[in-house]
Amino acid sequence: MADTKILLTESEIPTHWLNLMPDLPGEPAPPLNPGTMEPAGPEDLSPIFPMGLIQQEVSADPEIEIPDEVREIYKLWRPTPMYRAHRFERDLDTPAHIYYKYEGTSPAGSHKPNTAVPQAWYNREEGVRKLATETGAGQWGSALAFACRLMDMECEVFMVGSSYDQKPYRRSMMQTWGATVHRSPSSETQAGRAQAEHPTGSLGIAISEAVEIAAGDDATNYALGSVLNHVLLHQTVVGAECVAQLEKAGEYPDVVVGCVGGGSNFGGITAPFVRANLREGKRTRFVAAEPAACPTLTRGVYRYDFGDTMGMTPLMPMYTLGHDFVPPPMHAGGLRYHGDAPLVCGLVRAGVVEARAYRQNETFEAAVRFARAEGIIPAPEPAHAIRAVIEEADAAREAGEERVILVNLCGHGHFDLAAYDAYFAGSLEDPEFSEAEMQAALERLPETPALA
Ligand SMILES: Cc1ncc(COP(=O)(O)O)c(C=O)c1O
Repeated sequence: MADTKILLTESEIPTHWLNLMPDLPGEPAPPLNPGTMEPAGPEDLSPIFPMGLIQQEVSADPEIEIPDEVREIYKLWRPTPMYRAHRFERDLDTPAHIYYKYEGTSPAGSHKPNTAVPQAWYNREEGVRKLATETGAGQWGSALAFACRLMDMECEVFMVGSSYDQKPYRRSMMQTWGATVHRSPSSETQAGRAQAEHPTGSLGIAISEAVEIAAGDDATNYALGSVLNHVLLHQTVVGAECVAQLEKAGEYPDVVVGCVGGGSNFGGITAPFVRANLREGKRTRFVAAEPAACPTLTRGVYRYDFGDTMGMTPLMPMYTLGHDFVPPPMHAGGLRYHGDAPLVCGLVRAGVVEARAYRQNETFEAAVRFARAEGIIPAPEPAHAIRAVIEEADAAREAGEERVILVNLCGHGHFDLAAYDAYFAGSLEDPEFSEAEMQAALERLPETPALA
């Protein structure tokens, strides 16, 4: 029988991140300064980001070298294991070969430290002493708290209210690494005070709070856990390892699956395979899984919109549900974002990536089935991807084909067991985004240039 774990050594940690921006079909639509509606330049970003990351944000280089110190720190958890899901395959009675890349072995328990560490590093190199950020599921906040600790920097986190209540131990984890954590909306910022009528919060509100803190202090910058090009860039270390691991297994993926909140774990695992499709004519399919309660890619409109609720960020070209959309407080907190990475949106728009939306109960059913076969308890976010894997495995059986499926199991669910409890108790609701909500959101979108 083929191996269960496909492992790499520390010397095989990739030396470069892969920048997919130059590969995108057509001219990329630039982010816009909302005041002038002109392309946002480095000067629009420099009040809250270091130059090293701004350069990556706009880079046209196909590859970017990983700094030695970052690679050294990556050794704390990288390379991460890839597993062949023999037992899950048997349970699903599928001829498909299912591989999962497990990012839950990082100290914070997800893929988020892959970008938290370089983000903190580039900031520290430019003399920044503190980072402010938002967190939805608590995964990103923990990752940045950990990274700031390693760089001897301060970290201030605005945690979405519903997650703060559901996951007190994520807060303890951030505090263990020395971060200060606020429940968002908070009374610390104007943005928080203005949104007090939304007590469950949203990522958009928490982002506004963190950006406000960073913009108001020269020694403080802002760090974002997803969406931006440089974040997706750092996550390509996952995809690059997958290429080497699948090569060891003598396989190539027919389909790559990931969940999408802001698009970083999906963008990271798919990048080298997307490039191979676009440059070498490979025919891999890419499936993005999102929640039916916050269905950005499947139901959103492709428009310029703000990245945050209060309209403080540049306008980005993306599928959006409207920057002031407050999704219901569902359990996959990391997928409660009104927009998505422009890079992933561009790939969906170009027909390179297909998107599917799932409800909470079918998602947890998939996660429990996976956990009972493979042991690992997935975070609610990648549980959406597992749901899509089951559909792909069923399709392979129906077609009678030995398809190779690769999925990003981007985090464990050890801090999400309250959500599993709710599922077992039958009290999980299945909220869905309504057409009326979309119409209302459309009316509130800013006036912006049309996208081709
Ligand atoms: C475990 C986990 N998976 C996925 C996500 C979604 O983010 P992204 O789409 O950027 O990977 C999050 C975000 O917090 C997360 O914590």
